[in-house]
Amino acid sequence: MRGIFLTVEGIDGCGKTTQAELLQNYLIKKGFPVIKTREPGGTSLAEDLRNILLSPKNLIYPMTELLLYAASRAQHTQELIKPSLENGKIVICERYIDASLAYQGYGRGIDLSIIERLNEIATEGLKPDITILFDIDVERAFELKRRNSFLFDRLEMEEMEFHKRVRNGYLEIAKKEKRFRIIKVDGSVKDVHNKVIEVWEEFYRCFLQEIGR
Ligand code: TMP
Repeated sequence: MRGIFLTVEGIDGCGKTTQAELLQNYLIKKGFPVIKTREPGGTSLAEDLRNILLSPKNLIYPMTELLLYAASRAQHTQELIKPSLENGKIVICERYIDASLAYQGYGRGIDLSIIERLNEIATEGLKPDITILFDIDVERAFELKRRNSFLFDRLEMEEMEFHKRVRNGYLEIAKKEKRFRIIKVDGSVKDVHNKVIEVWEEFYRCFLQEIGR
């Protein structure tokens, strides 16, 4: 059986890393074969590209930025995501195609159709089965981020207005794609995790029906 491809998205500081970890632990306890990975990154080459992309010392033009994210995605998809799905695993991936639309498209202003085309090329058309979007106020996300670290990467150092465009971008993309589930980030980490489990269980029930199990 082919695996399941689940992506988590949201602005910086939305808590997706913590929630992805909690979901991974939950699924492992239930006996599923799971791998958790991230973009940019997930393979040795793509992690090197991640360091270049996030280092505040690099001046990167928007088109260069888009192409580097696409390069990282192409490598990651071929080397890790596709083989894992073919082996029947659940792949939990922090960020994927939608991040390029939200950040480089809505955030930087690059034409969305160019990004869609590049996403298609980089992934050979592989789309997530389900995408969980963690939606949170930009101000609150930054407050949470500051509590954890004083070191901001190149993208996190962008102005508030940039992050507001990214947040609205994500909400726009979510309206167009059926695979999206939006979870409001309010309450405790546990409260949000419970919402993630509800979303997963509902998705998995439909998934089993669709494949006739
Ligand atoms: P994160 O993995 O810690 O969230 O950091 C990745 C950063 O890269 C984050 O600010 C979002 C940004 N990003 C893009 O701008 N475009 C992309 O395609 C991806 C995958 C990430």
